[in-house]
Amino acid sequence: MQPVLDYLDRNRERFLQQLCDYVRFPSVSAQMQHRKDLKQCAQWLVDHCRRISLDARLVPTAGNPVVVAKTKRRKGTAKPCYMVYGHYDVQPPDPLDLWQTPPFEPRIEGRSLFARGSSDNKGQNFAHLCAVEAFLQTGTELPCDLVFVIEGEEEVGSKNLAPFLKEHRDELNCHSVVVSDTGMPSKKHPALTYALRGIVAVEIRLDGPSRDLHSGIWGGTVNNPAMALCQLLAQLRDKNGRVAIPGFYDDVKPLSAFERKQFARLPMTQKEYRDFLGVPELFGEKGFTPFEQRAARPTIEINGLTSGYQGEGSKTIVPAWASAKLTFRLVPDHDPDKIRKHIVRHLKKLCPRTVRLTVKTGHGGEPYLVSPESDIAQAGLRALKRAFGREPILMREGGSIPIVNAFKNILGAETLLLGLGLPDDNPHSPNEKFDLDCFENGGVVLLDEVDACLWDELGRLK
Ligand code: BES
Ligand code: ZN
Repeated sequence: MQPVLDYLDRNRERFLQQLCDYVRFPSVSAQMQHRKDLKQCAQWLVDHCRRISLDARLVPTAGNPVVVAKTKRRKGTAKPCYMVYGHYDVQPPDPLDLWQTPPFEPRIEGRSLFARGSSDNKGQNFAHLCAVEAFLQTGTELPCDLVFVIEGEEEVGSKNLAPFLKEHRDELNCHSVVVSDTGMPSKKHPALTYALRGIVAVEIRLDGPSRDLHSGIWGGTVNNPAMALCQLLAQLRDKNGRVAIPGFYDDVKPLSAFERKQFARLPMTQKEYRDFLGVPELFGEKGFTPFEQRAARPTIEINGLTSGYQGEGSKTIVPAWASAKLTFRLVPDHDPDKIRKHIVRHLKKLCPRTVRLTVKTGHGGEPYLVSPESDIAQAGLRALKRAFGREPILMREGGSIPIVNAFKNILGAETLLLGLGLPDDNPHSPNEKFDLDCFENGGVVLLDEVDACLWDELGRLK
């Protein structure tokens, strides 16, 4: 391993510069105006992968292209193959005025690299590429074959990736998938994530009068769509934080005693949790700790709310329409299609006759859970322990990576979630950053040790 570690050490500065180049692409998948940036970013990745001796190509889809990069196969050698999955698309950087420096101009301050996508997910998938580069460039034998799949639509639901997996099923045949797109509680607490929440997205719009009206002349005689929307939304969650939609909890699996014990091991108090998020008091479903709520209980969230006049000063109108973007987080054994039906049925029932309701259903993804007892999870735990010299924490996470279920259903492969994000990385928020220890020491050297251990541990699996 020494040549690999020396190589990583010698090339630290260049790796960081290359990561800066990677995060400069404004690869925002939610916005059509960035289609070209996504393509350019993917091409940059392909060029990079080729430079480090991977067999790489761009595979077009109905949306953004997928980067596929494989270690060169030697005839007659039968090594186990693993997929490394990541995404090069990022969330919109808004609100821009809250960024200390522009989101796509990387800024290094202390041990942090600030940029949209630095943690979620460019820094994390680039760390794996650096580790593999060190193996390939020093002629160190990898104990397994690897295929990197880095996609450009994760942040909008990975709609085109399942068809891609089906079409390339043979080529992507692998024992399991390794993903670094989650977090760890702290640099001292290596973690293996064994469950993710699922998701259902819907957009609601209420239309009232055919145009914005003078609120003094007409107000009081027509329903105000903004008010109607607030009243409708307010009925979707009760005061104890439970989703108030009939049928919503039907398929929710209770937490096991083992899981509750794992949650209790997390190194943060409720007071620290509250102060960290800057709220006066925590809120949440009764009977569950915040750590259980955020990772293992379902929720409804309003992601965006729009109506009426948003400019400076006042304007006296009854707005013609109001809209809201909602997401529901799902847990085992929720089925997104079933939940979507419950939601739409209930919205129709709640909507007053004084406004017109339109519901646009968006992306969805099933919750994911891999048994901590499975061979891959056990190999991951051993690798983490060897690399960090500490007992890793088993975690459930609240975020979603919708495609992991397709890995299981289409490729028959479970996913090992090995996150490098820290709680204060601010993914999806202004001033996102990636910790350089996670990237260089954790991400490259330690991750490389993790990778070295991981690939070694995985290489032994049948
Ligand atoms: N990296 C996240 C997922 C994540 C973050 C999982 C932290 C666990 C812990 C990923 O990029 C993400 O944000 N996914 C979206 C998916 C959605 C848009 C379909 C999410 O969870 O909101
Ligand atoms: Zn994300």
